[in-house]
Amino acid sequence: MTTENRQWILARRPAGEIKDGDLVFGAGPIPNPAKGEVVVRTEWLSLDPTNRLWMSDIPQYMPPVALGAPMRGLICGTVVKSASDSVAEGAVVMGPGTWSDYARAPAAMVSPVPVIKGVPRKDVFGQLYLVGPTAYFGLIDIGAPKIGETLVVSGAAGAVGSIAGQLGKALGCKTVGIAGGKEKCAALTRDYRFDHAIDYKSETIEQRLREVCPEGVDIYFDNVGGETLNTILAEMNLFGRIVQCGMISVYDSEGAGAAPSNYPLILMQRLKVQGFIVLDYAARYPEAFRALTKLRLEGKMNWRFHDIVGLENAGNAVRMLFKGQNTGKLIVKVAEPA
Ligand SMILES: NC(=O)c1ccc[n+]([C@@H]2O[C@H](COP(=O)([O-])OP(=O)(O)OC[C@H]3O[C@@H](n4cnc5c(N)ncnc54)[C@H](OP(=O)(O)O)[C@@H]3O)[C@@H](O)[C@H]2O)c1
Repeated sequence: MTTENRQWILARRPAGEIKDGDLVFGAGPIPNPAKGEVVVRTEWLSLDPTNRLWMSDIPQYMPPVALGAPMRGLICGTVVKSASDSVAEGAVVMGPGTWSDYARAPAAMVSPVPVIKGVPRKDVFGQLYLVGPTAYFGLIDIGAPKIGETLVVSGAAGAVGSIAGQLGKALGCKTVGIAGGKEKCAALTRDYRFDHAIDYKSETIEQRLREVCPEGVDIYFDNVGGETLNTILAEMNLFGRIVQCGMISVYDSEGAGAAPSNYPLILMQRLKVQGFIVLDYAARYPEAFRALTKLRLEGKMNWRFHDIVGLENAGNAVRMLFKGQNTGKLIVKVAEPA
């Protein structure tokens, strides 16, 4: 085991896009766990849009990362030091950690990585741990899909969106995906079983929606917020549901942006609009694991990774999420799995 611990420190809260100098790469000693903590040798680091929220100090669902502290991130790796009775050294775990070679974490916050036959550890962590349950509970609990309904998903070629679309299809919905660019839109219908794809970068969402779903929209799984949300509000059917999963188009603008001008349609169309955070569903994760694993093993659930190699590249790589440069779940390989 080396004695060096490389890590990314939040040096400055980004103003707008993440810029050079907001995160600083440095090295220190390998930490020791305090009582009730473990130290995890990081093998995989997940990069997520929520990282941008944690860098800011806007009101959010978790405390922001403190300036000067290691950047928070979801990690998977092997416990190398334990000061907890419940997690032994050598255990392979996943949970919230830091962008570090060796991350300290409360033992109560990490979970053993379940061994699922036919699903590699990387997929269990990267696709099934939080991404899959986000798509699953958002769609099932809030979207409440019925056979024959029309489901529209934005951010549809991304990690959460691609799973939400395929799940909707498996449940008998007509599915329409919105993504940026030709390549991603080709993947929507070819790989992720969407019935229709809309390229918001070269097409007008409103016009294309009226062409491909003249019947209107029953469920909108929203990953982007902003103008797209406003446009789709006007296409919602009576008693439609909006799953407010994410708002990536406004994360760089330090807030929720302006209220949609179509907000009154929530009343007129009797819409249900509900935000959620996947952590609210922690007690039910096994349900999502089972359902998504079954679809995966039956060949009805495709997913893709966008792989980055080397912790030193995390600071640049996270920015790809906000430029549409990732073509799957963005993940960093930090070290070879033990
Ligand atoms: N509620 C929860 O508990 C929860 C949990 C996990 C994730 N989320 C949310 O789910 C959403 C998707 O997350 P993910 O991890 O699956 O990321 P992802 O979709 O794999 O990557 C982000 C994608 O967002 C799109 N995007 C970026 N800026 C945009 C903009 N200004 N307008 C429209 N699209 C834009 C890009 O795709 P294009 O190339 O298509 O533009 C980009 O590839 C995020 O909003 C995230 O915050 C919520």
